[in-house]
Amino acid sequence: MLNLYEKFWEKLEKLELTSDSINHLKEKTKEKLEKPIQGDYPRWLNAYSSLPNINTINIHLNQQAVTCSTDQCIDSQLKASMQQLIPWRKGPFDMFGCYIDAEWQSNMKWDRIASQIPDLENKLVLDVGCGNGYYMFRMAEKKAKLIMGIDPGLLQIMQFWSIEKYVQSEACVLPLSIQQMPQNLALFDVTFSMGVFYHRKSPIHHLKELAYSLKTGGYLVIETLVINGDERACLIPENRYAQMRNVWFLPSVSMLELMLKRTGFKNIKCIDITTTSIQEQRTTQWMKFHSLKEFLNNDLTKTIEGYDLPRRATIVAQKK
Ligand SMILES: C[S@@+](CC[C@H](N)C(=O)[O-])C[C@H]1O[C@@H](n2cnc3c(N)ncnc32)[C@H](O)[C@@H]1O
Repeated sequence: MLNLYEKFWEKLEKLELTSDSINHLKEKTKEKLEKPIQGDYPRWLNAYSSLPNINTINIHLNQQAVTCSTDQCIDSQLKASMQQLIPWRKGPFDMFGCYIDAEWQSNMKWDRIASQIPDLENKLVLDVGCGNGYYMFRMAEKKAKLIMGIDPGLLQIMQFWSIEKYVQSEACVLPLSIQQMPQNLALFDVTFSMGVFYHRKSPIHHLKELAYSLKTGGYLVIETLVINGDERACLIPENRYAQMRNVWFLPSVSMLELMLKRTGFKNIKCIDITTTSIQEQRTTQWMKFHSLKEFLNNDLTKTIEGYDLPRRATIVAQKK
C-alpha cells in the first residue's frame, strides 16, 4: 500500500511545506497502514489487489456517477472485488458498467454546492473526512493543483484506491484524522469539512483545526447538521440522533456563523440548507443495512428519537 503514496510525497516536496511536516504525514500514514486496527483490512487489501488491470479509455468526472469506460471486455472479477468493499456509503461510481449505487447519492449535494464554492483551479485543496473520495473526484474535474483527503476509515481508503486505480486523478487520501495533522500547516487554499463537525466533541476546536490548515485568505467549506433557531440555539442529543452514534453538537446556522467569526473567519456565507431526503440517503445493493427511512418515525416527520428531521447547511468562510 505504501508505494501508492510515493508520487504524492514527491508532489508535497515541491510545495512550501517543511520537511518536518512531510515526515510527520509519512510516519502517521505508515503507522496506520502497518498496524491497522480494523480486522477486515487484509480482506479489503486483497480485494484491491485482485482488481483487474484495465485500459481506461474514457473518464467522466462531471456526471452524477464518477465514470470510467473501456473498449476491453470486462470479466466478473471487477464487480467481485468491489463487492468485497461493501458497504459503499458515498457514490455513485460507474466502473466500466459496474454501477456502484452507494447509500448516499452524493451527486445531489455536489449539485447544490458546486457552483457556489470557491474556484479550485490551480489551488491546493484539503478534504477533511473525505470518505471514499467521491467529492475529491468531482473536485479533480475543476483542475485543482493538489487534492489531499484525510480520513481515518480504512475501508473508505481502500474504496478510494480501488476507484483511483482507474481514474488516475492524482488525488490522494491519507489514513489520518484531523487531530493527526501537523500543527498550523497554513498550506491550503480551500479546505472542505463535510459531515465531520457534528462528530467532533469539541466543535470550536474543530473550527480552529480547520483554520490552521488554511493560508490567510483561504476558504473553508463546512457542511454540517443544523437545527432551527437563532445564534443561541444548539442541540446536544441525549444519546443517538437518527440512530447515529457520535453525534455531539448541532448548532443553528446563526450559531455556526458566530462560531466561525470567533475562530478567525470573515466573509461568512451560507450557500445551502437542505433537509435530507430518503431519496438522497437509502438502502441499496451496495449498502444493505438500514438507512434514513428506518431512522425516522412512521410518518417520516421526525427522527426515531423525536428530533427534527436531519437538515444540513453548507457555509463558505474566508480565513482572516
Ligand atoms: C458523514 S461522513 C462524510 C463523508 C463526506 N465528507 C461527505 O460529505 O459525504 C464522515 C467522515 O468523516 C470521517 N471522520 C470522522 N472523524 C474524523 C476526524 N476526526 N478527522 C477526519 N475525518 C473524520 C469518517 O471516517 C467519515 O468517513
